[in-house]
Amino acid sequence: SDPLRLGIAGLGTVGVGVVKIVQRQARLLELRCGRPIEITAISARSRTKDRGVNLSRYAWEDDPVALARRPDVDVFVELMGGSDGPAKAATEAAIAAGKDVVTANKAMLALHGQALAEAAEAKARVLRFEAAVAGGIPVIKALTEGLAGNAVSRVMGVMNGTCNYILTRMDNAGLTYEQAFAEADGLGYLEADPTLDVGGIDAAHKLTLLAAIAFGTKVDFDAIQLEGIGAITIEDIRRAGDMGYKIKLLGVAQMTGRGLEQRMSPCLVPASSPLGQLEGGTNMVVIEGSSVGQIVLRGPGAGEGPTASAVMSDVCDIARGTRLPTFGQPAVTLADAPPASAASP
Ligand code: NAP
Ligand code: HSE
Repeated sequence: SDPLRLGIAGLGTVGVGVVKIVQRQARLLELRCGRPIEITAISARSRTKDRGVNLSRYAWEDDPVALARRPDVDVFVELMGGSDGPAKAATEAAIAAGKDVVTANKAMLALHGQALAEAAEAKARVLRFEAAVAGGIPVIKALTEGLAGNAVSRVMGVMNGTCNYILTRMDNAGLTYEQAFAEADGLGYLEADPTLDVGGIDAAHKLTLLAAIAFGTKVDFDAIQLEGIGAITIEDIRRAGDMGYKIKLLGVAQMTGRGLEQRMSPCLVPASSPLGQLEGGTNMVVIEGSSVGQIVLRGPGAGEGPTASAVMSDVCDIARGTRLPTFGQPAVTLADAPPASAASP
């Protein structure tokens, strides 16, 4: 059958990871997706930078908008980053040109995801973003597919690898904030603007996307109560440890009598709990559903391989012809859900 043709804009940590999977797992992808996955065109700022992969067989575009409009591109894969600017312009251009879009760009989605998703739907196209939340953990698929039979009451977790890495290295290895930050940088965890990481903004972007999916609400980043880890000192971490706690940048989204509550802030969690034991760049998302109870998803939240893995899950979905929108799927809230007893025979 016909190949699915990708145009990739952005060849940094994630983009190169995607190229590697397409090149190295071609046969496996074809078997799993039912058709070959090919890259036809690429774009980045520098055409000459050595990226450690062979890019010579792909068409080059300096302008990501031109890439998004190419007739030999079926899926526009946006991996440049930035909430506005070229990422948003090229995503809009791709949708207008009738392409499906896969992106890892939570900053763009938290601010413009609703409008972009509606534009895609109007064109009968899909906008997919598994990689935008919790890196390699397939949490969006868990919510939209695996937990489809559940009214979700709460989603919470640690969703920024950089912050968790910094906090655990300060705690376990006695590193200064600056030393731990430099290590996280070396691992490819940081956003191009790292104030998004340490300010809690990146994690809040992710939480607001999960909340919109879990509760069937519109994406509302401004409604998040937000505080980052910038003010946490090694003394705070030690004092918390003396009391049997760890400090984690924790996000919580839950339905309350007053509507959807969303907060992202440093919290004390028991050191012996799964969240307390979460180390390094690992993320954890806890979901509470009406039928399943509580489930805990844990895995690498950032970095080349894990994030590219999530991008490819969206690509495969599109190759298989899955057309359901991610936002705007009806979600049963607890208020609508019948009490468990009403459903009993
Ligand atoms: P990155 O390493 O900084 O790479 C960004 C890429 O975009 C670079 O190749 C850059 O080109 C290219 N680029 C930037 N501006 C461009 C423009 N105007 N035109 C064409 N290309 C442009 O970023 P990344 O870590 O791969 O992240 C990419 C996206 O994935 C971001 O939205 C990020 O939030 C998201 N994400 C990242 C991770 C992670 O672990 N890194 C995890 C989840 C989601 P040059 O290389 O030539 O400079
Ligand atoms: N900067 C992000 C993090 C990348 O540290 O979690 C993954 O989204």
